[in-house]
Amino acid sequence: MMEISITKTDKPQEKPQGVLGFGRIFTDHMFLMDYNEEKGWHDARIVPYGNLEFSPASAVLHYGQETFEGMKAYGSGGKCYLFRPDMNAKRSNLSNVRVSIPQFPEDDYIQAVKTLVKLDADWIPEGDDSSLYIRPFFIANDPFLGVAISKTYLFAIILCPAGAYFGSLAPVGIRVEDEYVRAVRGGTGRAKTGGNYAASMAALARAQAEGCAQAMWLDGVERKYIEEVGTMNIFFKINGKIVTPALSESILSGVTRDSIITLCKDFNLTVEERPITIDELIAAAESGELEEIFGTGTAVVISPVNKLRYKGRDIMVGNGDTGETSRKLYDTLTAIQRGKAEDKFGWRMEI
Ligand code: COI
Repeated sequence: MMEISITKTDKPQEKPQGVLGFGRIFTDHMFLMDYNEEKGWHDARIVPYGNLEFSPASAVLHYGQETFEGMKAYGSGGKCYLFRPDMNAKRSNLSNVRVSIPQFPEDDYIQAVKTLVKLDADWIPEGDDSSLYIRPFFIANDPFLGVAISKTYLFAIILCPAGAYFGSLAPVGIRVEDEYVRAVRGGTGRAKTGGNYAASMAALARAQAEGCAQAMWLDGVERKYIEEVGTMNIFFKINGKIVTPALSESILSGVTRDSIITLCKDFNLTVEERPITIDELIAAAESGELEEIFGTGTAVVISPVNKLRYKGRDIMVGNGDTGETSRKLYDTLTAIQRGKAEDKFGWRMEI
């Protein structure tokens, strides 16, 4: 077990009341740990939440050497659960490899998350759409402007009480981005690193300017195959079958994606993980075979999509309401996450 020193705040904040947004309110404490070549990862500590201090020359600020994760803690009936934290710990190390950040022991990662969440457990919001969002991240902080692999890093975890990302199961429109691309073979698309999100902002701006919530990415070579959407993996229900792009080097391997595939199979739905082109999707929409679209992600959980905007044209999905499969998956997944349904896949970790 890693030793973690704990300094509690002497100024606990008021807990937020009413509707919670996403990502703007933070709890009383945060976890920090440093890395240098001499000591490796060291000085694990929980301290009062506050600003970090580092040099304006820190590598992360200039070259984006960083990775992050998104997880959630759920409270119900006095119990508190994490959902598949082992998947995040593993993916974090895969991301770190891609941007040359040192590996972090997966058991220590989970211990750090558990210890911080337990300390701030009274921040876990009540309510079916609410949870405590957990953001672990690694940043390179050598104060050096040359392009080099940093020799010093910070690992941090912050927590925020969060409500629904887009509103509970509220359908959104997405714009198919056919000029910019997010990721290419050999790039960083599979890693959860800030640069992928920096590269997404211009497409997000275009999507929002056209009344959509997020952009849908096509592949970086032919702009033909669907990859993923802004903050989520994407699923289609076509003619009763569930289709989702097969994982590749340019697609983030979502924990929610993996869980939804398992649940669909458990519901005896046929799941096809395969390349799917935007032309196939539009044709399915036009022939009436496209029944539902939904995104999956830790932050959004399940986000139904009722409109695709492609080349200046709106293509409506189903009758515009949240589809029955989207709703059933949302209800089942959130019940498992909150300890309200049997955990037959062993996904929950009580803390
Ligand atoms: C998540 O779903 O946890 C994400 O990381 C998406 C986003 C908020 C960046």
